[in-house]
Amino acid sequence: MIKKGIILAGGKGTRMSPLTKAVNKQLLPIYDKPLIFYPLSILMLAKIKDIMIIVNKGQLHQYKKIFPDGKRLGINLTFKEQNTPKGLPDAFILGEKFINNQNVALILGDNFFYGQYLSKKLQECTKLKNGAKVLLHRVTNPEKYGVAKVKKNKIFLIKEKPKKFISDLAITGLYFFDKKVVNFAKQLKPSKRNELEITDLLNKYKNNKKLSADYIGRGGAWLDTGSLEDFYKTSNFVSAIENRQGFKIACLEEIALLNKWINTKHIKEAIKFYGNCEYSNYLKKLI
Ligand code: TTP
Repeated sequence: MIKKGIILAGGKGTRMSPLTKAVNKQLLPIYDKPLIFYPLSILMLAKIKDIMIIVNKGQLHQYKKIFPDGKRLGINLTFKEQNTPKGLPDAFILGEKFINNQNVALILGDNFFYGQYLSKKLQECTKLKNGAKVLLHRVTNPEKYGVAKVKKNKIFLIKEKPKKFISDLAITGLYFFDKKVVNFAKQLKPSKRNELEITDLLNKYKNNKKLSADYIGRGGAWLDTGSLEDFYKTSNFVSAIENRQGFKIACLEEIALLNKWINTKHIKEAIKFYGNCEYSNYLKKLI
């Protein structure tokens, strides 16, 4: 069972410079809310309440402004600073104390997931007892991602940005690991680009036949907001859905309320906190 989750929300944000020179990418807006709301909402939909956000050194105060504490959302929220972006598996080295020898989920701060039955799928994934699980999604440009080849839900091959086609199933930025992950991460050596690589970490599980796959499915969306183009595409996607349906994607207070982690008193406090804005107007409709 997975009860803990990490959001990796540091990074260089090179592809989005100069936007990311002063402000961290995850605090930039995807339509009507900061990007960080979306991966946080995914962990909350998975019913994960114990959450650590890893941020760049020197940027913690920016995050504290939007998340002064987790109580407002009925979650236990902690932060950890990363001195330099050393690679995705560094999350487990930095998070060792937080993980406390338990199973853990990791979501990349710039990944967007949406779809029907997603909550159910996420809650199934958190039932993981041992090994590791990744969520795969079919893409038309597999050469841009880490891809996997699968047989009976077990992954037997992973390739990072393959030049020649081997699979169109991209490995998304949401991972579920057993408690061995900390030791595996510590065994990794930096790659040519001087980073610890998630592919190397996943290979440790794959080599023991312990890496399984699940799918978001064609009814779901996965968008990686790392480039400027994709960032605005995601913003447009959220705007289209929200304005059509009248429901918000990743309204954290709404999810917390539905999970029965908070009550109307908390929603009223949230309205005060955000002030007179469209997001608050939406919150008013919840109570
Ligand atoms: P990347 O997309 O690999 O990198 P980036 O966000 O720094 O952007 P760019 O490639 O344009 O320089 O990172 C994926 C996510 O993980 C992103 O949200 C940033 C975060 N991250 C960390 O928090 N720490 C790290 O050491 C790395 C490598 C990434």
